[in-house]
Amino acid sequence: MKILLVTPRERADAWRVALAAALPDATIALWPNECPAEPEYALVWKPPAEVFARVRPTKAIFNLGAGVNALLDVAGLPADLPVIRLEDAGMAVQMAEYVTLAVLRAYREADAYAAQQRKGQWQPRPRIAKAAFGVGILGFGVLGQAVASALACFDFPLAGWSRERKAVPGVTSFAGRAELSSFLARSRALVCVLPVTAETRGLLDRANLSSLPRGAHLINIARGEIIVDEDLVALLDAGHLAGATLDVFHEEPLPSGHPFWRHPLVTVTPHNSAVTLVDESITQIVAKIRRLERDESVTGVIDRTRGY
Ligand code: NAP
Ligand code: GLV
Repeated sequence: MKILLVTPRERADAWRVALAAALPDATIALWPNECPAEPEYALVWKPPAEVFARVRPTKAIFNLGAGVNALLDVAGLPADLPVIRLEDAGMAVQMAEYVTLAVLRAYREADAYAAQQRKGQWQPRPRIAKAAFGVGILGFGVLGQAVASALACFDFPLAGWSRERKAVPGVTSFAGRAELSSFLARSRALVCVLPVTAETRGLLDRANLSSLPRGAHLINIARGEIIVDEDLVALLDAGHLAGATLDVFHEEPLPSGHPFWRHPLVTVTPHNSAVTLVDESITQIVAKIRRLERDESVTGVIDRTRGY
């Protein structure tokens, strides 16, 4: 079996070693120096369009990440092949850590206490009522549900928004556009973990962000394109939103002149709320390759019309 690996150069050797250990009989080629015309499988992260001009995988393309927006945008991506994404593969626990930190920092007003400490002020603040601090998870799939289960022990009113309604104990499910504004209205902390698609690009604009309660915090661990940056800054400046913790941006790295860098209510992290773990990812992909080789179905196949 031939497999083509298209990964950022700095991690290429780690991917090759892990794949070779898991599939010792496979011939592994590393883009761009090795380039079999028809490998059975391609494992790719943000491949250049040139890849699919030169290589025609015959069985499936695996995306080395959970989000497939960059891959689906590549010109020449074969239309008839399954595109299979990573499902959790060690990312869910990382997202749970990131979001728990951000939600508790907001709820326990850590920034306000840090400011008081800088002024030498000993001043307990009235605790925000838990019932008034709903946490809304926008995108209630693999990662969104992991975030909800990590937050469950803190007794925040939890809600999830998805396309289809979900039955998850302890979480109020909202589904579809018709229920978006009532979902937002109860979300004092809004966690965005949606895929970016034609339907979600620009979803968090002035109108939808204004539906959040006054004092809400936004946590974006999905993709920058879901937010209209100017609208977010305007609502922070107007005092409607109390803070934003942002891991993903329209342009990455975030350009040095972008207002997010210096905004006092914005926390920026460099797209590392959950990183792809090589060993966990290869274990998952190889298990799926083995199933495909036995003509069995696999999960994580992208629906190209939905875009995720
Ligand atoms: P997933 O399992 O496919 O979950 C996506 C969720 O979004 C589903 O609940 C889906 O609804 C919902 N959704 C999609 N389009 C919708 C729409 N138009 N209206 C309402 N709900 C919609 O994906 P995942 O594994 O949780 O990953 C989510 C995203 O996280 C990825 O696409 C990626 O962009 C991002 N991510 C970021 C990082 C990072 O480091 N920052 C790391 C990994 C992933 P249904 O359940 O009804 O289909
Ligand atoms: C990272 O952003 C991913 O989609 O896995």
